[in-house]
Amino acid sequence: MAFDLKFRKDITQLQSDAAHSTDLKRTLGPVNLVNLGIGAIIGAGLFSLTGIAAAEHAGPAVTISFVIAAIGCAFAGLCYAEFAAMIPMAGSAYTYAYATMGELFAWIIGWDLVLEYAVGASTVAVSWSAYVAKFLAYFNVHLPTAISMSYWQTPPGSAEHGLVNIPAMIIVFAVSLLLIRGIQESARANAIVVFLKVAVVIIFIGLGFAYINADNYTPYIPENTGSFGHFGWSGILKAAGMVFFAFIGFDAVSTAAQEAKNPQRDMPIGILGSLVICTILYVLFSYVMTGVANYTEFAGVAAPVAVAVEKMGISWLGPAINLAIIAGYSSVILVMLLGQSRVFFSMSKDGLLPKLFSDSHPKYKTPWKSNILFACVVSLFAGFAPIAIVGEMTSVGTLFAFIVVCLAVLVLRYKEPDRPRPFKTPWVPLIPVLGILACGTLLVSLCVSDWMHAARLFVWLGIGQLVYYFYSIKHSKVRKAQA
Ligand code: ALA
Repeated sequence: MAFDLKFRKDITQLQSDAAHSTDLKRTLGPVNLVNLGIGAIIGAGLFSLTGIAAAEHAGPAVTISFVIAAIGCAFAGLCYAEFAAMIPMAGSAYTYAYATMGELFAWIIGWDLVLEYAVGASTVAVSWSAYVAKFLAYFNVHLPTAISMSYWQTPPGSAEHGLVNIPAMIIVFAVSLLLIRGIQESARANAIVVFLKVAVVIIFIGLGFAYINADNYTPYIPENTGSFGHFGWSGILKAAGMVFFAFIGFDAVSTAAQEAKNPQRDMPIGILGSLVICTILYVLFSYVMTGVANYTEFAGVAAPVAVAVEKMGISWLGPAINLAIIAGYSSVILVMLLGQSRVFFSMSKDGLLPKLFSDSHPKYKTPWKSNILFACVVSLFAGFAPIAIVGEMTSVGTLFAFIVVCLAVLVLRYKEPDRPRPFKTPWVPLIPVLGILACGTLLVSLCVSDWMHAARLFVWLGIGQLVYYFYSIKHSKVRKAQA
């Protein structure tokens, strides 16, 4: 039977592999890692979803939704930090599961992470393309719908269909080329973008405070309309499930563990540091946004930040914020694609996927074949897929991964209580259990509103099982070693 816990990886062996691996370069310090986190975190979740979540579900109390989502992420982040410091390998949650719950679990989680990283990258690429179109429109350049939207997208107030989203495809390829060029080059480009992105968020918060109209906060929690998720506390919960997307990415820091100079110390700093900084910025940003404009004004608006900026009446702020958002989205795509290639790198090294995913470039030391392959797949997805439907799948897949990581901390504390841990999740078992409950609640709140999310997750995992049974079992190195 394949579901056999005996096919586990030995942690001591993993630690030795991590210490001696020369496939990837160890060049990233703590600041690079925090930047990677922020690079992946601040994006479409903040700039697009805040408005929809406020208008349709939570009103000004979307700030509370951000806090709830952040708490769920903090529990999971503490668990990630324990593993990332102990097993600094590129596989992240996949590797942690391999070392604790066995191969099948590891496979499920590795396969599931495609939803987070590859699907997440294509979702953000589509949003990126919309902001590029908006930016060009400031200068009276209008991209034809046919080449700037997929068939499933229509411009607001029009029945016209797009054909292919070419800008979304281009950004995926451009970012992939940067990733192939090298991790340090990628980290440098990411740092510039992060600086720009954070500066704009702070400028928005700083300027916006002066334009807050206190009336917009009354009522702070609009009364529930009678159905689940439409305002009131259930609306806050539903909005928390939505804006959870805005936090996705802090875990991607752990996929760079094999490229960190001092992972034992710096992994927890990168994961938890980026999470704390983004939480503070998110709560302030959403507070200002719903204070400057009334939450009802964000209904049906694709670029809610522009609504708030218009209220302030500062003409240069619109294009400037738009430009920073475009740059900011690129770094989200960058870290997502980085995470994707690193997880498949580890799975391929273990024999569960073909070798091409771990072939490292002789000069740049990056998994270039994998980068090219994912550039093709993700760009096709971004160019043609019904992205609105698959977008929420990113959150569903990620929440599932977080739950497994929290569970893995519990399992390993029980199985190997004395193993040295450079960073220890505090209050075990309380924190991992709360992490499972918090992420589980968000997952359920997403699936209650659209049960198809759960169905899609199972279909995707089912396809993964076929690959596992027909390919991975036969090629698994752990199985060969134990045979
Ligand atoms: N957290 C990332 C974003 O909001 C995925 O775009």
